Amino acid sequence: MTIPEIIEVKREGGIHTKAQLESLVLGFVQGVVPDYQVAAWLMAVYLKGMNAEETTILTQVMAASGEQLDLSSLERTTDKHSTGGVGDKTSLVLTPMLAACGVTVAKMSGRGLAHTGGTIDKLESIPGWSPSLEDGAFLKQAKEIGLVLVGQSKNLAPADGLLYALRDVTATVPSIPLIASSIMSKKLASGAKTIVLDVKVGAGAFMKTLDDAKELAKAMLEIGRLAGRNTRAVLTDMETPLGRMMGNALEVQEAIATLSGQGATDLRELCLALAEETLLAEGFSSQDALELPKKALDSGAALEKFKAFIAAQGGDASYIIQPEKFVIASGRSEIRAKSSGYLERLDALAVGKAVLALGGGREQKGEAIDHSVGVEICAKPADAIQAGDVLAVIYHNQRGLETAQHLLEAAFMIGQQPVSAPPLILERLA
Ligand code: URA
Repeated sequence: MTIPEIIEVKREGGIHTKAQLESLVLGFVQGVVPDYQVAAWLMAVYLKGMNAEETTILTQVMAASGEQLDLSSLERTTDKHSTGGVGDKTSLVLTPMLAACGVTVAKMSGRGLAHTGGTIDKLESIPGWSPSLEDGAFLKQAKEIGLVLVGQSKNLAPADGLLYALRDVTATVPSIPLIASSIMSKKLASGAKTIVLDVKVGAGAFMKTLDDAKELAKAMLEIGRLAGRNTRAVLTDMETPLGRMMGNALEVQEAIATLSGQGATDLRELCLALAEETLLAEGFSSQDALELPKKALDSGAALEKFKAFIAAQGGDASYIIQPEKFVIASGRSEIRAKSSGYLERLDALAVGKAVLALGGGREQKGEAIDHSVGVEICAKPADAIQAGDVLAVIYHNQRGLETAQHLLEAAFMIGQQPVSAPPLILERLA
């Protein structure tokens, strides 16, 4: 079949075969199929959709377009993915917790995207820590410590990088089969047997409604199932930022506090829920899945794993023992409540954009970021507020301060009626 004929199949709402998807996607990666044809096909997929088998085949073709990690020499390999949020430092707490429970986390993580943060950027706040390891060192660390996190290799699912760039400029990003295949192609190529997905819902997330998030989660679960991986998904709130600290070094400090038995209660609750799902998927009993992660946190075992992992990747582990050593921007600006009442809503997107404006994220590809800036949230939805209370503290180096102030002033919505705190865990799917 020629490429125009393949495009026509989807334009007319037909179902692709594996051979058609291979011609198109692998041809694109090899530079044989031009991007204008792929752009037309992407729009046809956006408009006509794809069924579960087709989406799985597309995902497998994308996963096989480059290097695939072989983790078969490791026991109980687990990967976790968050669809992205504000203040989402979950991986920093969850992964050492899982390693302390006897599960192997050998994972590739991303950098920040738009207003959402990325695990690699956060970890780079620790002097010396490196996201690159040789292949041998990656497997050795996974065996010895049970935890290794590296940056996304360019050779991993290269089809996704090329397709994503084209989707970005052809208004075809918000398509469930395209998002699901993009995320899962990287997960399949990364080799773990168990995949736990944290699908975020709300203003600060990619999926704004529960229905959309559920559809995406189901599409990814189906890909995982058809590809023979243990896959589970948890739908979680991202209307409100997670935890109290936003910004790279501030978030690592908060993760260390949580690993030390302190820290924000919502962050702890989410990490425990994701750990429970992971251990259930790994075949642990329901009681162990519930109890072992708590024990790992409360005994200090998870913190010890985190320290060992940081040191193994060249990081200065003294920062984990003394988190006050992190360089935090010296400028401070407070956002105060203008009226009394109850906090009805805290807009995660506005907080994420404020951190971005301060220099804590990238506005352009490859830009350097300021790890020291960020925002501390001092009130969460349902809290009683008095006029004059500090709602947020901005940690800044002057850059973007006014923008951050404006965004944060509008981010807190105070009403007169008491409200109850919204649930964090919205649904669990397996
Ligand atoms: N994250 C991805 O990796 N891909 C998408 O398409 C959307 C979010």
